[in-house]
Amino acid sequence: MFWNALVAGALLGQSVNAQNMLRFACSQLTIERADPLVSPGLAPAPHTHQIIGGNSFNLTMEPGTFDPAKRSTCTSCTYSEDFSNYWTASLYFKSPENGTFQRVPQFANVGLQQDGGMTVYYMPYSAVNNKMTAFKPGFRMLAGDPMSKKNNRVSICHRCLGNGEGFAPCDNKDTGELPAKYCPKGIRATIIFPSCWDGVNLDSPDHKSHVAYSNAGGLGTPKCPSTHPVSIPQVMYEVMWDTGRYKNDAWYKNGKQPFVYSFGDGTGYGQHGDYLFGWKDDSLQKAMDALPTGKCANANCSVLKIQSAKDSIACKKKQQVVEDIGKDGAWLKELPGGAQVTY
Ligand SMILES: *[C@@H]1O[C@H](CO)[C@@H](O)[C@H](O)[C@H]1NC(C)=O
Ligand SMILES: *[C@@H]1O[C@H](CO)[C@@H](O)[C@H](O)[C@H]1NC(C)=O
Ligand SMILES: *[C@@H]1O[C@H](CO)[C@@H](O)[C@H](O)[C@H]1NC(C)=O
Repeated sequence: MFWNALVAGALLGQSVNAQNMLRFACSQLTIERADPLVSPGLAPAPHTHQIIGGNSFNLTMEPGTFDPAKRSTCTSCTYSEDFSNYWTASLYFKSPENGTFQRVPQFANVGLQQDGGMTVYYMPYSAVNNKMTAFKPGFRMLAGDPMSKKNNRVSICHRCLGNGEGFAPCDNKDTGELPAKYCPKGIRATIIFPSCWDGVNLDSPDHKSHVAYSNAGGLGTPKCPSTHPVSIPQVMYEVMWDTGRYKNDAWYKNGKQPFVYSFGDGTGYGQHGDYLFGWKDDSLQKAMDALPTGKCANANCSVLKIQSAKDSIACKKKQQVVEDIGKDGAWLKELPGGAQVTY
């Protein structure tokens, strides 16, 4: 079911009025072992990513000099001025019978038309007096940590779909770990980014210290810390993994489940998301300013340019790191990059 600001506001006990947010689809751009944020220039990067957004995505995207809005000729997102890139690790099924891997396909979220990819949100939770500062060209950030062995459910979480909906993402009905049961309607992975910025740095060595959460890691409150006083849009990703096709009681016994992330994580605690800003000119700022007016919401923001689902789906990029990352149901002997599976 469609989740909205009211639900989140009520569950968080926020006193702010329910406000609009952007919620839109971005289809698959490419799937490959590339990571211009954490391992720029490295081909191949250590693990497989599924990547959406502007087609200027590249192995190296220098902050300040590389402008995705100028270099892209299309975007896989609904809003045709959004040439940002968004990516997460891919998910694989590891056969409990023979140990081979199959990449889990992705599907469209409720009410959206897309080819794989993700749902992207820009939310106003830390806005004070409805004001948010949009990201500057060159801005990038990382949420989550592939090395994490800890449950951090409030910002990195999983929902076993088909068990009741309508509550806020990463609520306590979701789990930090990959659900240890069969999820007939799929697993939704959610990644919530920080909503406060230091106002100065476009990036930081760990790609995190220049931003901060206002609410212990989860959805924001209108209270940024003094070290990071600038309220920025709270970015959130939802990835829909089509796990329903992996139906076999034997695979989900005694707390076990058969899925692993592309970097070998079988718990799910290490799921992470990368964000690289690339909106054209001041289009994102205009949209954020229009959210409280009611003229801008979800995938229907009247101050932005909207492209058809067909056009956004047509925006694809060939792998630059050419290798078999598990195409269309293919079975792989190991995870691309050879990560060992750990739980
Ligand atoms: C991507 O990087 C390659 C190698 O540096 C370069 O030749 C190409 O022009 C870049 N593509 C874009 C869209 O910037
Ligand atoms: C490995 O197991 C999966 C089911 O778990 C099966 O679909 C696949 O065909 C098997 N592959 C081989 C090479 O036996
Ligand atoms: C988008 O907003 C316009 C104007 O408010 C409205 O006419 C239209 O039906 C909306 N479209 C969707 C898909 O909600």
